[in-house]
Amino acid sequence: MNIKRVTGAYFSPTGNTEKLAKAMAGALGDAAGLPVEYIDFTLPDARSREYVFGREDLLVIGLPVYAGRLPNKILPFVQENLKGDGTLSLPFVCYGNRAFDDGLSELVYEQKNAGFRPAAAAAFATQHAFAATLAHGRPDEADLEEAKSFARELWRIIAGAESANAFATPGVDGNMPPGPYYKPKRMDGEPAVFLKAKPLVDPDKCVNCGTCARVCSMGSIDPADVTNVPGICIKCQACVTRCPQGARYFDHPDFLSHKAMLEKNYKQEKPNSIWTASLK
Ligand SMILES: Cc1cc2nc3c(=O)[nH]c(=O)nc-3n(C[C@H](O)[C@H](O)[C@H](O)COP(=O)(O)O)c2cc1C
Repeated sequence: MNIKRVTGAYFSPTGNTEKLAKAMAGALGDAAGLPVEYIDFTLPDARSREYVFGREDLLVIGLPVYAGRLPNKILPFVQENLKGDGTLSLPFVCYGNRAFDDGLSELVYEQKNAGFRPAAAAAFATQHAFAATLAHGRPDEADLEEAKSFARELWRIIAGAESANAFATPGVDGNMPPGPYYKPKRMDGEPAVFLKAKPLVDPDKCVNCGTCARVCSMGSIDPADVTNVPGICIKCQACVTRCPQGARYFDHPDFLSHKAMLEKNYKQEKPNSIWTASLK
């Protein structure tokens, strides 16, 4: 195969998906001696553009799992703005140690619809954006090493393959097309309804640096008055985790109860799930 460029593309409000995309795209670039480019589509501006790939490209694409699927507000970008032409890809998801449900199968499915040929796939257990005790500190060194050796193995198989057509679609766990979104639960097992919750600001800590407005994945925070969140909030936690003062927080009772439920029930750390490339 005549691959000439590796691209790592990721949506990563709290940074886990970015680390894994860079580990795998970097390892592929090193193994193949090829240049590596990155598309960070975490912010709205990057999602307003279209990116076209050909048969000499290899795309590593990662998203976090939200409610057992791909983040629904980002799905249109994955469907419409990344265009392949028989382009080999490595789709992966990060999930916060509860479950990846149909997140990975949805990404494989959407990649195929968008002209890509997923050759290998993975779901990584990573620190939960709502609850830092879940898969705390992951991806850690061992996860990154596992991701890199998975990528190097993919390159070994690509180097010996005739064309992208030779690859079998990885038989990942999950439904294709995907099933319904996971419904978050409260501690008492009832549905946790916090769709309309928005991040608050502790006035004693906030120094009006504007970081939260700059990192908001929906561009929803008013930079002139960061207490004002006029746009939609997808609860990605970028503002909460990246605020240098620790001034942003959620106080919605159902959100807090869901977080407590996750912390109680999903302590047991999950292994990563990897589908190595195979030829037909
Ligand atoms: C809105 C939202 C929904 C989530 N839903 C799930 C889920 O269904 N299952 C799960 O295991 N983790 C879930 N997570 C955790 C993320 O998948 C995890 O924190 C991931 O590492 C975030 O990636 P990032 O650091 O690249 O932003 C959710 C996180 C958010 C913000």
